[in-house]
Amino acid sequence: MNKRPREDEPSSSLASAQKRQFGAGGGYGEQEGYSEERNSARRVADHYSARSNQTLEERENSPIIYLKKLNNWIKSVLVQLYARPGDCVLDLACGKGGDLIKWDKAKVGYYVGVDIAEGSIKDCMTRYNGDSDQQRRKKFSFPARLICADCYETRLDEYLCEDAPFDICSCQFAIHYSWSTEARARQALANISALLRPGGTFIGTMPDANVIIKRLRETEGMEFGNSVYSITFGEEYTEKKFPASRPFGIKYKFHLEDAVDCPEWVVPFHLFKLLAEEYDLELVLMKNFHEFVHEYMQRPEFLDLMRRLGPLGDGRSGQSTLSQDEWEASYLYLAFVLRKRGPPPSQRRANNPNRGKTFLAEEDIEFLGI
Ligand SMILES: C[S@@+](CC[C@H](N)C(=O)[O-])C[C@H]1O[C@@H](n2cnc3c(N)ncnc32)[C@H](O)[C@@H]1O
Repeated sequence: MNKRPREDEPSSSLASAQKRQFGAGGGYGEQEGYSEERNSARRVADHYSARSNQTLEERENSPIIYLKKLNNWIKSVLVQLYARPGDCVLDLACGKGGDLIKWDKAKVGYYVGVDIAEGSIKDCMTRYNGDSDQQRRKKFSFPARLICADCYETRLDEYLCEDAPFDICSCQFAIHYSWSTEARARQALANISALLRPGGTFIGTMPDANVIIKRLRETEGMEFGNSVYSITFGEEYTEKKFPASRPFGIKYKFHLEDAVDCPEWVVPFHLFKLLAEEYDLELVLMKNFHEFVHEYMQRPEFLDLMRRLGPLGDGRSGQSTLSQDEWEASYLYLAFVLRKRGPPPSQRRANNPNRGKTFLAEEDIEFLGI
């Protein structure tokens, strides 16, 4: 097992890889300080909190409806590939609970959702209780617990130690919010590693830094995009050089029509992989969304799911589908799977009937340091 470095010093493997990949020296501007960091996290939380749950009609009229459906297909494929009946699930940055139905279909046994945005976690509670406009009014079969916390700052491993170990952890479209500083990125991975059982799986989706940096370098100015998204880098990056000595805190502004408008951080995937290894999380799979779609569409069960969800139409002529701009936006993302090192326990831990609840009231939402 690798020895973990102290939180305040870069690991030797990561540091040497940073030198290998990008060369030493150069600059990105100063690493952001802790309080500025908190402000950025707050800005992200406020942005998501302010986005109310859409009605079914609003959702269907969204300019990125097919992109949303494609994202849901990708997340569903990940869940179907890696979740097993009875699994204990930790959904980090669970948002409004958009994946609850996917976990239900996988027949999981227990669900803990954590998100920094109070508004989103309340919407997640509403959805879990079956009161949302968007879903059938059916109660979910698994008990749940919802927590409002900054997953990248809070010691979730301590707080959730009685619920651990989890069989599967999911962090969809959100792990990049941890890459504002090394300390936050490490806390994210430390939480995940400590809470997963040996052999447990960490699934996720995040922006593909290779694509983003390539697009930035191809563009004349500091902004690129199309009718559905734009990405803007600050003037501090006019040289468009990103030395490995400072892989954290590379901020850009992301706008996705009808979805996102807030700061995000570049995650160089090869360094994410190296850092994850320090926390005993080994890479199983990493694919850009385009490659992911092409590969898993070959499997009849996922092709059928794609037809039912509809991002690429249902096979009928005249059906509208994903626009070229939405397809281009999907190229900005990748899917990954990591596995916690170690032999899986020979026996599953007996389910504790007292964990979680099958109906959640606002008082049941737990607030940690928010
Ligand atoms: C694009 S949304 C994805 C939501 C959900 N995972 C999904 O796929 O539908 C990103 C989510 O990350 C959450 N988030 C961002 N930073 C976070 C942090 N530091 N701790 C916990 N949640 C965070 C936001 O509040 C938001 O709900």
